[in-house]
Amino acid sequence: MGRDMADYKNELVGDHPSIVDLNRLISRVATSPARTVLIYGETGTGKGLVARLIHGLSSRKDKEFVDINCAAIPASLLESELFGHEKGAFTGAVDRKLGLIEAANHGTVFLDEIREMDLTLQAKLLSLLDTHQFRRVGAVRSTTVEARFIAATNKILLSEVNAGAFREDLYYRLQVVAINIPALRDRGDDVLTLSRHFIARYNTIYNRNIRGLSDEVTGIFLRYDWPGNVRELENLLERIFILEDEDIVLPKHLPDRIIRTVRAGGTEARVAGPGKLQSAAGNFHEATADFQRKLVARALTEANGNVQDAAKALGISRHALRHQMQKLGL
Ligand SMILES: Nc1ncnc2c1ncn2[C@@H]1O[C@H](COP(=O)(O)OP(=O)(O)OP(=O)(O)O)[C@@H](O)[C@H]1O
Ligand SMILES: [Mg+2]
Repeated sequence: MGRDMADYKNELVGDHPSIVDLNRLISRVATSPARTVLIYGETGTGKGLVARLIHGLSSRKDKEFVDINCAAIPASLLESELFGHEKGAFTGAVDRKLGLIEAANHGTVFLDEIREMDLTLQAKLLSLLDTHQFRRVGAVRSTTVEARFIAATNKILLSEVNAGAFREDLYYRLQVVAINIPALRDRGDDVLTLSRHFIARYNTIYNRNIRGLSDEVTGIFLRYDWPGNVRELENLLERIFILEDEDIVLPKHLPDRIIRTVRAGGTEARVAGPGKLQSAAGNFHEATADFQRKLVARALTEANGNVQDAAKALGISRHALRHQMQKLGL
């Protein structure tokens, strides 16, 4: 389903203070001279949408917005896709081809899943960010380009630096203007505001008249932990529009998985909340590791990836935090 920018009134839907602040930051960054921006957020939190909003609110809006998913293009092809190539640069390069970055001159390049870019290309990207120049594959001379680069990731990049998978210098370059998008479960009752937004939109698209969520579904939505974030909510509601006839969203329309998770009390409440532990705890080691992973990831996010600050917030030593990160595979 095509998602039209016109649906979003140039900002993220949501009233939670973190989203109000985020909208302010987005318009600030859009009109700023910043040439690199890093967006961090769990899957489905709206990274792609934020990148488009930044482009749409900037003076670059009439130039190209080039969207490149670094995970979707094989490493061997990514360089020529980005930088283009000269005639005869490699077997099959029968003509000169302009890269996506050249196509985005004076516009915006969105590098989604930046973590998946290999180390050699990361070095070439850093050099481009520093000099505004790059070389097409097989070219002798460099080409100059002026573009804003917005990179996105759902990985804690600092851990990737520590693991040797991401260049430290590129990380610090990107980190200058960093935007963190909170998970849906941390946005209070924005899940209800977003539900109203999507229901209104699908009422128009599918010519229906669904009035809203039943009280019981409202309670479930507020307690569910939404691992797939806004995308999960949006897809769930669209599916209900397609498959169900009632004019109100009822618990029976929800997948068993959601009902089961909520009954079990979500990850955190599974341990701390009320209810019978024996039926709710699941696998002890899995549940505690999951909780630790979330806690550590959150501390790192809030500290903008600074291990020292994150360790302080958690009340453990820097050494202990690094150990935890390694153990939890962060
Ligand atoms: N605050 C919001 N208001 C309205 N729609 C939103 C909001 N956040 C996300 N969406 C919508 O939710 C869907 C998922 O957002 P998006 O694709 O930008 O997430 P993402 O973080 O890029 O996900 P992934 O990590 O899977 O690439 C999109 O259809 C987007 O338009
Ligand atoms: Mg995305």
